Amino acid sequence: MLAIETFNSMDKLEQLRSAFAELPLTDALHLTTSLFPGKVKFSSSLGQEDQVLTDIIASNNIPVNIFTIDTGRLFNETYETLDKTVARYKIDIDVFFPQAEATQQIVKQHGINLFYDSVENRKLCCDVRKVEPLMRALQGAAVWITGLRAAQTDHRKNIPVVEWLEDKKMYKINPLLYWSYDEVIEHLNKHTVPYNPLHDKGFISIGCAPCTRAIEPGEDPRAGRWWWEISQKECGLHLVK
Ligand code: ADX
Ligand code: SF4
Repeated sequence: MLAIETFNSMDKLEQLRSAFAELPLTDALHLTTSLFPGKVKFSSSLGQEDQVLTDIIASNNIPVNIFTIDTGRLFNETYETLDKTVARYKIDIDVFFPQAEATQQIVKQHGINLFYDSVENRKLCCDVRKVEPLMRALQGAAVWITGLRAAQTDHRKNIPVVEWLEDKKMYKINPLLYWSYDEVIEHLNKHTVPYNPLHDKGFISIGCAPCTRAIEPGEDPRAGRWWWEISQKECGLHLVK
């Protein structure tokens, strides 16, 4: 356990790093919200990892602001999961949408399913439907919490649990970074957390409906995301610019 004098002398980045390395997760989250009252935001895709975090945040009354981005192309099962989660925990989850004009413009110029035509078009769609709403959702935040896990992609293997994002001028915390997939499932089952029923149908990582397919046993967990591309399987939400 950290000595309080040592802790107080650390800068905020060090404090957060020590907290997430050494304290139980709920304590580390409580400490984060006490260091940055009203300025801690959690982006939830309503996927399995994010449902674990919502369960921990809501069950322990940790004053974190939870939001999700509705890209306009999500599965109906994802919307049902949103409703079930709000009802179960009696919490608010703010929903952010893409800008209507920008969306209309890319659709007019490139077609409604532009993402299948080129990586460039796919990134354009992700920029308009996900990245821009994320920037708006994070306005005023000092801390951004995500459900990223290291095992998910090559890029995620190299990120820390707590980092300072110079481009966004905020801390990013990935509390489940070193959780295994089995630990995530165990938490969901143990606490009967509501989850997207598509997970039971071979969909491990779930994003937009036209860009996500179920995977076969033995396939990479992210093989079902943008499956027609051979690229790095990141949409830009988590790539530092
Ligand atoms: S993605 O970048 O490939 O789409 P992924 O689905 O793995 O991301 O989710 C990783 C993290 O990104 C989630 O834990 C969540 O913090 C954030 N995220 C992804 N999609 C959304 C969304 N639609 N709304 C809010 N946060 C999201
Ligand atoms: Fe568009 Fe597909 Fe990206 Fe969703 S995942 S924003 S539909 S390209």
